[in-house]
Amino acid sequence: MISYKELGLVNTKDMFAKAIKGGYAIPAFNFNNMEQLQAIVKAAAETKSPVILQVSKGARNYANQTLLRYMAEGAVEYAKELGCNHPEIVLHLDHGDSFELCKSCIDMGFSSVMIDGSHLPYDENVALTKQVVEYAHQFDVTVEGELGVLAGVEDEVVAEHHTYTRPEEVVDFVTKTGCDSLAISIGTSHGAYKFKPEQCHVDPQTGRLVPPPLAFDVLDGVMNELPGFPIVLHGSSSVPQEEVDAINKFGGKLEAAIGIPEEELRKAAKSSVCKINIDSDSRLAMTAGIRKVFAEKPAEFDPRKYLGPARDNMEKLYKHKIVSVLGSENKLAQLD
Ligand code: G3H
Ligand code: 13P
Ligand code: ZN
Repeated sequence: MISYKELGLVNTKDMFAKAIKGGYAIPAFNFNNMEQLQAIVKAAAETKSPVILQVSKGARNYANQTLLRYMAEGAVEYAKELGCNHPEIVLHLDHGDSFELCKSCIDMGFSSVMIDGSHLPYDENVALTKQVVEYAHQFDVTVEGELGVLAGVEDEVVAEHHTYTRPEEVVDFVTKTGCDSLAISIGTSHGAYKFKPEQCHVDPQTGRLVPPPLAFDVLDGVMNELPGFPIVLHGSSSVPQEEVDAINKFGGKLEAAIGIPEEELRKAAKSSVCKINIDSDSRLAMTAGIRKVFAEKPAEFDPRKYLGPARDNMEKLYKHKIVSVLGSENKLAQLD
């Protein structure tokens, strides 16, 4: 058993309380490899932002859980090396789907876990979430639960339609489970194809597709029931048009990729939404960076020469999210 505290990591408790009070959200960026981690840590350290490093079950399978854990430990030291003497970094399991997986992550030094029972019948979701909370809280590890189902692929389960969170259930769920934060469904979804073109309208000024608005009435309903309780938004990539265009220009084929408009995320970040999950945008930025080098320098075969620019592109994206969308810049408790 390794405590996250020995690794210099923190849980989400104080971070979320401060974010709700301050009207901003903490970025939760997924990582699977060194370049993503370097870009995330550099962006967070240089903007003095708290940050959540998210590891999915797929990331654990891809990169090896032990290696990821030591990478997160290295992230704390790297942030200090970059001049951020008091980094606030959370290592979080994204979409944990069993008690055993959550326990294994907690035992390995994670400071926060998500148990995603959103596809289960309500009572089973409650029972599973409660079981994880009881284990996690013994070690001061925070737990995110989920109510409502996002459309798209979640936990390898494909849902055709959203099932919005029912505000009338949230108090019962939070009280019975003791979870520290709640992921809700208000119209976001995972991946780069969040809306079908026929759901969107064309912006006459830009000619671009504008998706239907998020269900802020559902969020308001949840906040009414649970004033000041930490709320999480999954599926919050914006799918930047310039990254999609770059990918397509340099030989890719992404058709009708549509994300969540930044204005909606800015609005959410000012509310009780204190954690915003972003993965797909990082994938797009990395792919665009690599494709550009491959297209412009076909003779290049040193991985540093294409992963380096891809990393720079991701860093730029992460900084943009922190500074211009989530508002978490300069929010570390100690800025020196
Ligand atoms: O919510 C899903 C995250 O984007 C993680 O995706 O399971 O492919 O690693 P993944
Ligand atoms: P995106 O696919 O919109 O980046 O969402 C990521 C996410 O919710 C991870 O849990
Ligand atoms: Zn998610």
